[in-house]
Amino acid sequence: SPAGPCAVVIFGASGDLTKRLLFPSLYNLARNKLLPEDFAIVGVARSEKSDDAFRSEMNENIHQFATAGVDEELWHWLEGRLYYLSGNFDDPATYSQLQQKLADIEDKHGTGGNVLFYLATAEDYFAKIVSLLGEAGLVREEAGHWRRVIVEKPFGHDLESARTLNREILSVLSESQTYRIDHYLGKETVQNILVFRFANGLFEPIWNRNYIDHVQITVAETVGVEQRGGFYDHTGALRDMVPNHLFQLLALTAMEPPTAFNADPVRTEKAKVLEAVEPLSEQDVLHQVVRGQYGEGTVAGKPVAAYRASPKVAPDSNTETFVAMKLAIDNWRWAGVPFYLRTGKTLPKRATEVAIQFKQAPFALFRDTPVECLTPNFLVVKIQPEEQISLQFSAKVPGPAVRMNGVQMDFSYKDFFGAAPGTGYETLIYDCMIGDAILFQRADNAEAGWKVVDPILKTWASHPPADFPNYAAGSWGPRPANALIERDLRYWHLYD
Ligand code: BG6
Repeated sequence: SPAGPCAVVIFGASGDLTKRLLFPSLYNLARNKLLPEDFAIVGVARSEKSDDAFRSEMNENIHQFATAGVDEELWHWLEGRLYYLSGNFDDPATYSQLQQKLADIEDKHGTGGNVLFYLATAEDYFAKIVSLLGEAGLVREEAGHWRRVIVEKPFGHDLESARTLNREILSVLSESQTYRIDHYLGKETVQNILVFRFANGLFEPIWNRNYIDHVQITVAETVGVEQRGGFYDHTGALRDMVPNHLFQLLALTAMEPPTAFNADPVRTEKAKVLEAVEPLSEQDVLHQVVRGQYGEGTVAGKPVAAYRASPKVAPDSNTETFVAMKLAIDNWRWAGVPFYLRTGKTLPKRATEVAIQFKQAPFALFRDTPVECLTPNFLVVKIQPEEQISLQFSAKVPGPAVRMNGVQMDFSYKDFFGAAPGTGYETLIYDCMIGDAILFQRADNAEAGWKVVDPILKTWASHPPADFPNYAAGSWGPRPANALIERDLRYWHLYD
């Protein structure tokens, strides 16, 4: 059912996120009848423009970025609810004007004083905007109406800055008003991990160290740094992907069952499992964490320039575009089960997956069959672009001799549920409107991720890489990333 009356204020209204994702998502929510009738959107950004100019700009954008065509009548409905305010994010005057604008909108559209503030700006502004919203009284919740704030990523750039940001935000907002986003949680295939684990009696009993040999999490991208050098060169693959997106996958795969399927019990278990990750010493970082940077190469038949030759990237940059690591989770369920993680840019294939390898059967029965013929039992949760769950096992090849080969059973979302094009932000925005924080990060979740990677950041800072660039664009990363898993006599599931 539709969310209740509200207004959405987007700080950073002329940014890429707003154009490519937020507006198409709001439009999709309207299409799915999940927006209230009493609704309005206010875009806030620096450049001067009228409401009308903003409307025609967004009109152009929606025709470019809508995920499944545009119903003109529906767009017209939404367009009539768009407003614009120009102002600097660090100027108190912007906020008094916003207050006035919201009051007018409330009169006109009956939004009932409920406001969702979406911070789609550069990270440097998050704390400032929250503090000025606070000073202007814009986030005060009075009886009968709510005020909530979605904070985009990156949430800090290390443990200390994440703590500071939490402190600054929570000096103005209550935790229940704060919605820290990680867009991986908007993906259906990611949300399904908990359903798969906890709604099926078949898998839960074997989801532990007695049956699982190890877990691999891969987020492989074919894109390079493209036009994002200014941001990426001081961020790198570790900060950009690991404490947030990869750790969401890790937490959902490894967490204990929550006491209820509600925001706090779920977030408590997620925080607990990250807190159980064995802290990495400097030696561990040097042996268990591999970093890489791409040199020139070929991805999908197209030549790609080296990372260092990309716009706004230092020609001698030591920023990593690839990272792989082996982690241990020191708890009852996972003691002794390694988790191998990797992510990188300009890899041969776009693929995000969690691959769980089960222990081998005692193979006395097949004594004469060469070991290489036994296919490991992998359960692979394919997050994107393929949306599938596959179970891989050994089967007898038909014929008089006992020969085995790997086969697989696949569940594909497309086949069962059809394709539902979306941006992945729809559920997140809708959940915030209805006050459900289950898919958002609590303060401790955001800090727990940074706590794990902090020793890596520190060790790397004092040990600059000697060999960058160390992988060719279009390859599966630097060689030591293979050695990391192969020295344990295991192999990356995705590698061809
Ligand atoms: C973003 C990172 O958070 O996630 C990008 O900043 C990355 O560098 C992107 O490309 C990946 O998201 P997705 O949804 O395409 O896997």
